[in-house]
Amino acid sequence: MGRIVTWWRDWWGERLPINTAQLLEFTNEPVPKHLKRWWFCLGGTPAYLFVVQVVTGILLAIYYQPSPTTAYESVRYITEEASYGWYFRSVHKWAATLMIAAVILHQMRVFFTGAYRKPRELNWIIGMFLLLCTLTLGFTGYSLVYEQLSYWGATVGANLADSVPLVGGVAKQLFLAGEVYNERTLPRFFILHAAVLPVTLVALLAVHILLIRLHGVTELRFADESADQPGHFNFFPDHLYTELIVGLVLMVLLSTLATVLPATLGPRADPLTTPEVIKPEWFFYVIFRWLKLFSGSMAVLSVGLILFLMFCWPFIDGLIRRRLPNSEASVYVGIAAVVVIIGMTVWEALLEH
Ligand code: HEM
Repeated sequence: MGRIVTWWRDWWGERLPINTAQLLEFTNEPVPKHLKRWWFCLGGTPAYLFVVQVVTGILLAIYYQPSPTTAYESVRYITEEASYGWYFRSVHKWAATLMIAAVILHQMRVFFTGAYRKPRELNWIIGMFLLLCTLTLGFTGYSLVYEQLSYWGATVGANLADSVPLVGGVAKQLFLAGEVYNERTLPRFFILHAAVLPVTLVALLAVHILLIRLHGVTELRFADESADQPGHFNFFPDHLYTELIVGLVLMVLLSTLATVLPATLGPRADPLTTPEVIKPEWFFYVIFRWLKLFSGSMAVLSVGLILFLMFCWPFIDGLIRRRLPNSEASVYVGIAAVVVIIGMTVWEALLEH
């Protein structure tokens, strides 16, 4: 028996000459104790949900047909006829919702603990790209169903892009594959949703995780922790167990949501009838409300400015703290942002039009 084990180890060792000790050292980062709490290790949650999206997305893509004449019927087939199609479609939809919520919560945790500060500014910027990538995945996914709201949502999005000065016209053309929604539009959304954006997200995540590994996670000490207690535990296997428990809880939650509140199918897109109410998904309510408060280019440019300020926030915060070292400005800015985001989201949700 012993000889077989040795032969097996040597066989693999020759073909995959990986130094296990070095590999363990690289992956086994000492993790600060506060990562035992879910709020502080929230980054793993969108990562897990993304894997769920990839697996369920591949299963859906086997039946989905991206063209205006076939898309709606293929989604109907998945929902009503394909074995377990309703389940995988519903898990895909709920995992998207939870992933967006988790990314926003993770960004809030990073913001309120000041974990974006020197030397982690670049990782905040990578994170901002991850946020945009996740939101665009949500938007393009919503458009694929070819329901009334998918069609009119995409049309509204294209008109908004058009109102950006100078580049607006080209952006709209690139987005719709023409002047108006046509038979080439849906394949374009599909390739963005199923290939370009997920691959971009994986590439960004690789850099995000590499930078986390190089800097380590920001150290935080809490009032109830004494200085002589060990401040770290091992990534492997301790942190992996935490993430496994989070993953199991998410799987149960996703299955429950998919069964109790399965994904539905609205009326088929009708390019000749504008619906009375055009609403995006909940995660765009805040932008939608903001855009409705202003008009034309002003609306789109102000959103662009807010995004620019969000990208630059670590440097703006750095300047403020250099001038006023004990300033709590970031906390006030954060609280104001959370109040505005929740307020505008609820406002839009309560409005019928
Ligand atoms: C798909 C989206 C994302 C994934 C999967 C992800 C993943 C992670 C993970 C696993 C960590 C390790 C610590 C933790 O779990 O909190 C982390 C840390 C970090 N993330 Fe993200 N992240 C994402 C989006 C974002 C966004 C939107 C931002 C901000 C704009 C951001 C900024 C950061 C920063 C600055 C750190 C370092 C935190 C520290 O040192 O304590 N991330 N991320």
